[in-house]
Amino acid sequence: ELPSRVTIWEVGPRDGLQNEKSVVPVAVKLEFLDRLAAAGLTTLEATSFVHPKWVPQLADAEELLADLTQRDGVRYPVLVPNARGLDRALAAGVGHIAVFASATETFAQRNLNSTLDEQFAMFEPVITRARAEGLEVRGYLSMCFGDPWEGAVPAAQVARAGTRLLELGCSELSLGDTIGVATAGQVERLLDTFTENGVGVGSLAVHFHDTYGQALTNTLAALRRGVSTVDSSAGGLGGCPYAESATGNLATEDLVWLLDGLGVGHGVDLDALVATSAWMAEQLGRPSPSRVVRALGG
Ligand code: HMG
Ligand code: MG
Repeated sequence: ELPSRVTIWEVGPRDGLQNEKSVVPVAVKLEFLDRLAAAGLTTLEATSFVHPKWVPQLADAEELLADLTQRDGVRYPVLVPNARGLDRALAAGVGHIAVFASATETFAQRNLNSTLDEQFAMFEPVITRARAEGLEVRGYLSMCFGDPWEGAVPAAQVARAGTRLLELGCSELSLGDTIGVATAGQVERLLDTFTENGVGVGSLAVHFHDTYGQALTNTLAALRRGVSTVDSSAGGLGGCPYAESATGNLATEDLVWLLDGLGVGHGVDLDALVATSAWMAEQLGRPSPSRVVRALGG
């Protein structure tokens, strides 16, 4: 039942850094991206074209992409919330975008300044135009398991919102545990709910934050259901500025260690990745929260 190979969707440069208080210099971000690519990661979520006041850390998106040397065989998706964001992303020459929706009313309000329904109205023309321009479009769905304001989120509600994103034209749906509260049984139930609604695991990815230390266990539950795209961030950096109590993502190193043990392919050089996260931790002035980075002496 386990996939033979997993695509690691590296979100460190975007989700990992977006919550960082002091602005990381563009040169450091560029080196981070290049070292991640050199370590064998082939999907690097580079930045976001969101309102610069909402996420000041990523206000340098244009500059970053202008100076980025894109490697062959590596894709560099970016987050885009609306028409203005798509204009900016197209001008920067990106080939892959991700829109990001909320499964709950409160987080749609807090993260996108819109209602649950309005967010889809905002995304529809963005997805249509992006696809007409030949871009690939991923859809994120946040608060798939629990929401800090609304509590547990019913699987049927999540499946409804996720199905809408796929129907609007997203080629892949990433299920986000934004605040890291999910447990493995809940992951299995949500994936089964999607399957029952006609959405196969082939179009699903998982995106776990590690607040309660469950990210790796949840990932294993998803792998056993056949999910083969997993989001993670190098060194376990991350958190969402608009979600109370969100901490870092599943660390890419922890994921790689698990996949190696399972004999599942991933293409990443763990030593090079650990060295990159150790270097990034120095830049940020605090140790990596990843257990594997610490164990391997990063
Ligand atoms: P708004 O204030 O409602 O925007 O924000 P608006 O449409 O009313 O426009 C107001 C002004 O902003 C206008 O300028 C627009 O041009 C400008 P004015 O005419 O007043 O001079 N504007 C923009 N400027 C630059 N880029 C843009 C843009 N859009 C409007 N894209 C908005 C609405 C969606 C823009 C805002 O809420 C926003 O930027 N939100 C982003 C929040 C965010 O980035 N959150 C973190 C990412 S999501 C996440 O981390 C979860 C995830 O990891 C999965 C998981 O863990 O669950 C993906
Ligand atoms: Mg996230």
